[in-house]
Amino acid sequence: MIGVFDSGLGGLSVLAALAQALPAADFTYYADTAHVPYGNKEDGFIQGRVLEVGADLVASGCSLLVVACNTATVAAVQALRAMHPGIPVVGVEPGIKPAAQSSRSGRIAVLVTEATARSSRLKRLIDEHAGMVDVFVEPCPGWATHVETLHLDDPVLAADVRRRIEPLLDRGVDRIVLGCTHYSFLAPLLHAVAGERAELVDVADAVARQAQRLAGHLAQGDGRLHLRASAHPERLRAALPRLHLGHLEARLIGGIT
Ligand code: DGL
Repeated sequence: MIGVFDSGLGGLSVLAALAQALPAADFTYYADTAHVPYGNKEDGFIQGRVLEVGADLVASGCSLLVVACNTATVAAVQALRAMHPGIPVVGVEPGIKPAAQSSRSGRIAVLVTEATARSSRLKRLIDEHAGMVDVFVEPCPGWATHVETLHLDDPVLAADVRRRIEPLLDRGVDRIVLGCTHYSFLAPLLHAVAGERAELVDVADAVARQAQRLAGHLAQGDGRLHLRASAHPERLRAALPRLHLGHLEARLIGGIT
């Protein structure tokens, strides 16, 4: 079983890529909905949650973990790996490298939660992979919560997206990195503002390829999906069609817990 987790619904964007790359693998998706969003919490709190959810997934039989959350990865992936030395752990980090390599203007933006914005891991990623380009880090408070409530066409959200993205485009940004897995579900709104001026960079497929390399025998299962959540588990299944992931319903097993 492959365990995939996030603070809430955002990691479903990664799960969709994983399910495509590993069609016969069995997945447990865990949404920590009792504590979402992580992005406005202290690092110690986020780390505590990641270690607890990770331990729960391992105890329930997961032998590969995918931390489908940038905020959780920057805060706790090292601690999680140290806690489970025998279990491969794949994290999600903003696609600074592909964005910097493909940018023609030499200016890229990275959209992140507040916790990711202040992390030393993000600074290191930028130093390592984007030394030759200008990087604008844009924290986007509230966006993940809009995704959680499935208010994706809320005019207040659309206005905030425009307010944050237009100045970046005016500064010449031609790559916009989705540095939070929730923001994949805001791609239509972001495209509507960016048009041809900037491409969105999402690493979900790259994360799925990395999990595929590490999956070994886990690639050969029954193609099942178990959904779990720390609060309102029933909302997870209901969210699938709303997020255009209705095709994942065919994999669902048992009750949602
Ligand atoms: N989906 C998460 C990420 O990739 C965090 C959203 C949140 O809980 O604030 O950063």
